[in-house]
Amino acid sequence: MTLLHVDSSARHTSVSRQLTSQFVETWKKENPSGEVITRDLAATHLPLITDEWTQASFSEPEQWTGAQKAAIAASDELVAEILRADTIVIGAPMYNFTIPAPLKGWIDQIVRSKKTFSYGPEGPKGLLAGKKVFVITSRAGAYGPGSPFEKADFQAPYLRFILSFIGLTDVTFIHAEHQGREGAESARQAAVAQIQQAVHGAH
Ligand SMILES: Cc1cc2nc3c(=O)[nH]c(=O)nc-3n(C[C@H](O)[C@H](O)[C@H](O)COP(=O)(O)O)c2cc1C
Repeated sequence: MTLLHVDSSARHTSVSRQLTSQFVETWKKENPSGEVITRDLAATHLPLITDEWTQASFSEPEQWTGAQKAAIAASDELVAEILRADTIVIGAPMYNFTIPAPLKGWIDQIVRSKKTFSYGPEGPKGLLAGKKVFVITSRAGAYGPGSPFEKADFQAPYLRFILSFIGLTDVTFIHAEHQGREGAESARQAAVAQIQQAVHGAH
């Protein structure tokens, strides 16, 4: 079994990092011989999509120029990581009502034509099947159903949609809301309990 652990917070004292660590620790206990791939997006300086990248992504490797090969190398590495994983845990702070730029950068690298999605007569098809995904968010506000800021959540709905676009439809969200405010500690404890349940339930 392989777990891909992705973090995207800029902060060392991050709530989402603490919670994904808790997930990894619990997962390791359940899977003592399992492999964990760690991808810290604050420590990985991913390239942006360029002209060379797009040309490489829509052509065959034998046709790539040196510049195209270099532009798409990080994407090849990140796609290989996600293909290898059976379970994926993503730490996602909310920044400006959506995800941090490094997490968007990672998504831009893993959403790859013919590798993680394809277009056919019936439209787009996700190619990553059978993987379990856990997204652990941390936010200062509260965005649950019926809350005044529900419509301002461009984080969870976006992640759910883009993950399903590449075939990742088994996605569980665990939210730690009210961070930095009253109720932060109890929200974190509730998230830890959900993590324990999620990891145990995944077996
Ligand atoms: C640059 C930045 C933007 C933020 N934007 C929002 C926001 O739009 N909505 C919100 O509820 N919290 C926002 N926050 C608060 C964070 O989501 C909160 O502190 C969370 O715990 C950060 O995750 P981390 O602890 O894993 O770093 C923002 C924090 C930062 C640093």
